[in-house]
Amino acid sequence: MTKDSNPGIKRSVSLLESHVGFKLDTILKHALRARDSYTLDHSERVVSLAEQIGRHLGLDEHEMDILSLAAGFHDIGKIGIPDQILLKPGKLSGEEYKDIKQHPIIGANMLRSLGNPILDEVALCVLHHHEQWDGKGYPNGLQGEEIPTISRIIAVVDAYDAMTTTRSYRSEIEIQQALEVIKQESGKQFCPKAVQALLELCSKQPLNSKACS
Ligand SMILES: [Fe+2]
Repeated sequence: MTKDSNPGIKRSVSLLESHVGFKLDTILKHALRARDSYTLDHSERVVSLAEQIGRHLGLDEHEMDILSLAAGFHDIGKIGIPDQILLKPGKLSGEEYKDIKQHPIIGANMLRSLGNPILDEVALCVLHHHEQWDGKGYPNGLQGEEIPTISRIIAVVDAYDAMTTTRSYRSEIEIQQALEVIKQESGKQFCPKAVQALLELCSKQPLNSKACS
């Protein structure tokens, strides 16, 4: 999928161009897609889903920009994970899972290395996108409002997208089942406000990244 075929990723790229002054197409296209096309497609869907949640929660323009960029790059650190782990079709071993848990740190370091204040903000949100509301996430075990709002939004849409699309090792489950799982994790894995926003948006119609923004 090219950036032109997805409004979400196109917005991320153009935002970056206006804030940073250079094109990030190269990183997106040649790094992430070359390693794992699922991760790139997933990131594109997460951008448009996160933008809908962000708008629903009333984020301001700057926050929306950071949200779009962080959603697009949340898994960019996976390019630093070995193929045999990243592309493994079966369940990961304990050691392998430990390795894959490094991806938020790798991604945040990559973004910080560009030395741009906007990307520093994006990096912080990327770093914490696997934190959990109850403090059981990684890499820092932050809890509740210690976790950046944007990271909390990405965590919810990341899970929603993973549960409603098919990977080689997991069959698709119904949207309602996915919403039920996420609802049960409100206040545990996920931020209650972000879950509420997802449920409210889905009560109108199921969120579909291809049909929005
Ligand atoms: Fe991730």
